[in-house]
Amino acid sequence: MREDEEVALTDPYGVVAAHWDHLHVGPRSAALVSFFADLAPPGGHALEIGPGTGRMTLAVAGRAASVHCLEPSPGMRAVLMTKLAGRPELRHRVTVLAGAAPDFPLDRRFDYVYLAAVLQDVPPRARRPLFAGLAGHLAPGGVLAMDMVTDEAVPDHPEREVRSAHQGECRYTLSSAVRPLGPDLAGVRRVYRTYHRGTLVATETVDGDYHLHRPAGVLADLRAAGLTAAGGSAVAGEVTPLDDKGTLIARL
Ligand SMILES: C[S@@+](CC[C@H](N)C(=O)[O-])C[C@H]1O[C@@H](n2cnc3c(N)ncnc32)[C@H](O)[C@@H]1O
Repeated sequence: MREDEEVALTDPYGVVAAHWDHLHVGPRSAALVSFFADLAPPGGHALEIGPGTGRMTLAVAGRAASVHCLEPSPGMRAVLMTKLAGRPELRHRVTVLAGAAPDFPLDRRFDYVYLAAVLQDVPPRARRPLFAGLAGHLAPGGVLAMDMVTDEAVPDHPEREVRSAHQGECRYTLSSAVRPLGPDLAGVRRVYRTYHRGTLVATETVDGDYHLHRPAGVLADLRAAGLTAAGGSAVAGEVTPLDDKGTLIARL
């Protein structure tokens, strides 16, 4: 195995981390951040699964007494830790741990557990154990929130540029190509290009799976974990103005 293959297997988000805030956080992201932050009980204790670079974390930490973050990607954790270093007022509130749900060694319960833009990385067959693990970390009456619960068709499009950003003399672009691999699965190729004064100087390609989670199956798996759906656009069957793929709120 080549060294770069090993990196790709152990940290699929390693390449993405440096580009995340420029190229993945879209213009309507603020509304989705508010969705997750507004559910945080003021003064309560939160657990975030897959914080990435902290898009939701910083907003939730502004309300909650504590946020525990479980992030398997060293690259994403590095960006999050760097951001937190610039926010000393949050330092005592946010705990960043290496790990992945559902197998994580936190021997405590939380008022609020949330996962933003994470479900697409989880195969539907792994959803039931995931929800059981999360329910086991919720305090009685605690709230679980997620997005990416959708009845949309499996996406299918050739490579196209989806976003670009400038920083200094560099321009960064993200292009993606998606092809259906099954009724609830697509293969996604993301290509990150860096241009310096108009000249292409770097190209990084990341291939991955994109799992679709249908509301009916998600609701059944929530019930199996002792959770009751309480809201969200996926439950209401509506399209929201949020930059999301279907939000869902459940209670223990
Ligand atoms: C698409 S990013 C979203 C990051 C962030 N939540 C946001 O909305 O900007 C998905 C993140 O979830 C993490 N992740 C994927 N599967 C996970 C799991 N089973 N447990 C914890 N984190 C996971 C990835 O490492 C990645 O950082």
